[in-house]
Amino acid sequence: MERIRLGLIGAGGMANAVHYPSLAEMPDVELKALCDLDEERLRKTADRFRIAARYTNYRSMLENEQVDAVYALMPPHQLFDPVMDAIERGKHVFIEKPPAITSDQCLQMATAARSRGVHTMVAFNRRFIPVMQKAREMVTAKGDVIQVVSTFYKDYRGQPPYYRGAVDILTSDMIHAVDMLRWMAGAEVVDVVSDVQSRNASYANMFNALVRFENGCVGALLGNWNVGGRRHVFEMHADGISAYCNPDSTVEILADNGQPIVFSAKEVAGSEENRVYYGFAAENRHFVDSLKAGREPQTNFNDAHKTMQLVDLIYRNAWN
Ligand SMILES: NC(=O)c1ccc[n+]([C@@H]2O[C@H](COP(=O)([O-])OP(=O)(O)OC[C@H]3O[C@@H](n4cnc5c(N)ncnc54)[C@H](O)[C@@H]3O)[C@@H](O)[C@H]2O)c1
Repeated sequence: MERIRLGLIGAGGMANAVHYPSLAEMPDVELKALCDLDEERLRKTADRFRIAARYTNYRSMLENEQVDAVYALMPPHQLFDPVMDAIERGKHVFIEKPPAITSDQCLQMATAARSRGVHTMVAFNRRFIPVMQKAREMVTAKGDVIQVVSTFYKDYRGQPPYYRGAVDILTSDMIHAVDMLRWMAGAEVVDVVSDVQSRNASYANMFNALVRFENGCVGALLGNWNVGGRRHVFEMHADGISAYCNPDSTVEILADNGQPIVFSAKEVAGSEENRVYYGFAAENRHFVDSLKAGREPQTNFNDAHKTMQLVDLIYRNAWN
């Protein structure tokens, strides 16, 4: 069996919670080398996943190890150089969201990857949630998607943006909801009107937008860090059908004024594990399958750049 050899940069939270456990159970993947600046994390993670080759300098790892692809799982403001170095050495690259600090950085990464002929992927895991895929299939089977809603609410009052403010909230956190508008609508963005506010803070923490897509679909973004608690839910509508989706629990389908049909997220995924029912296992599988097939992954850097451009438009077209 062809095995994809991976060089891994980052032994932090997401690496240990979702990505490396998902990769470790794939017989066609070899976790060949691991790098982290933090020696304790490096040792613990390498021991856990039985990785022999260990580095504290990722450039040494790239020079010494024969790998097909590189995972770079670290905060977005530390990502650009490792990603560009891996691309320049001809490695395929997998990264977490957001892909970059700015859309222009993301464009540079996408351009470099295209000219070097390597495949790339950004971990927009919401697209790979099994129950979301089922909901989308049911809605699109009935007709064109005409209206979508992405909601991302949290009670993070008084909490600064992630990484001591290195990246704004819309780019680092709400980007999941922004990307899902594009995925659910299934078309390119034509126009945006929006409202961005800073409530009791020196940084923006309320993001609401209406997005018009090329196919006529209208998307609504409802994002706020000042509300009662976490709700991350989605709606998809076509003529005569609606999907109300909470991928943490259930999806409810209403069609032709009939009785609602309810699917459990865990049952559809066949697992109680968040890593599986929340799309992390499937996104890693998608990356490996894409490399084996010589195909560009769905959420490649070029596609992620379009999501970053939508983030830009939400800021640029805000009323205030
Ligand atoms: N998809 C999701 O739902 C989701 C959830 C949380 C975080 N994330 C994203 O995951 C990414 C990583 O977050 P995390 O919480 O796992 O981070 P983390 O801080 O826990 O881990 C990052 C690791 O990278 C290491 N590192 C940083 N620079 C390095 C370098 N130059 N060389 C080697 N190692 C280096 C750090 O020492 C650390 O161990 C972020 O971009 C974040 O936005 C995504």
